[in-house]
Amino acid sequence: MSLTDIDILNERFGVADHVVFMDGPGGLPIAELVNDEGEARICLLGAHVLQFKPGGEEQVFWLSSESYFEEGKEIRGGIPVCWPCFAVHPTDESLPLHGFVRSRMWEVLRTGVGGDGCVEIELGTRDDEVTRAMWPHGFELRVVVSVGKAISVELITRNSGDEAFVVSGALHSYFALSDVRLVEIAGLEGCEYGDKVDSMAKKRQEGNIRIIDETDRVYVDTAADTVIEDSLSGRRVRISKKGSRTTVVWNPWIDKAARMADFGDTEYLGMVCVETANAADDVYEVGPGEEHRLETIISVERAE
Ligand code: BG6
Repeated sequence: MSLTDIDILNERFGVADHVVFMDGPGGLPIAELVNDEGEARICLLGAHVLQFKPGGEEQVFWLSSESYFEEGKEIRGGIPVCWPCFAVHPTDESLPLHGFVRSRMWEVLRTGVGGDGCVEIELGTRDDEVTRAMWPHGFELRVVVSVGKAISVELITRNSGDEAFVVSGALHSYFALSDVRLVEIAGLEGCEYGDKVDSMAKKRQEGNIRIIDETDRVYVDTAADTVIEDSLSGRRVRISKKGSRTTVVWNPWIDKAARMADFGDTEYLGMVCVETANAADDVYEVGPGEEHRLETIISVERAE
């Protein structure tokens, strides 16, 4: 994006001391949201949260050192927005994996400071010839990011066409860790999951999750908070959610990380994805004029 465009964004949507637009990695436009309690960076490519840092803390999200930052390609790390499908589309395998909005440039619709002091940005995208060639539906999609002590990211699907459609998707959050082998993830005890690294075999979670190998699991029928307990750094990251009954936990481990061009070979040790998802049977039919909302709220607690 040229400097002029950044200037226009700042003129229209900049908020003194709270919202500023700038060129980010690869020259992509980013918005920086700041208040006394936290700060975040959001890229207009994919409406993608890149960073969130509550006051006095380290970065909450992991971002690959090998990520692409290019229009038409997905960013690896932060919070990719997966839509209108999670993973492979259930009835149309020709759609890109995790849908097509991650690699699109979104528009800024609104910025501001809410009554609670949180700094907000709302980004939008909608159907056009390119999306209709892949997925023949009229839609308006919005992402509202609110930043303070916690960050919340809400994905709002609106059907602007005249036929119902079905959506799945995810706020595919990548969390930064001290060492994944020492971390536990609580909140999914007793839940059933489909194990993607074992041909989607149905299994039940016993106790907290420990990651000691490639892990790719779709936990079903759960609206519970999950907590990433990173005892080495003394940090607990809490993930609450709305509009989601699926949580996906993913770490590619050694071989898959090595196969991905945009993932540093040893970086799997410093991350885990805990994704607020609509997947498996947790899909939503959205009729003409109707909306579906998916939200994740992420906060940091210090371990005692
Ligand atoms: C996870 C999936 O949600 O995303 C994994 O469960 C997948 O199977 C991962 O590998 C990353 O997907 P992508 O499209 O960003 O490489």
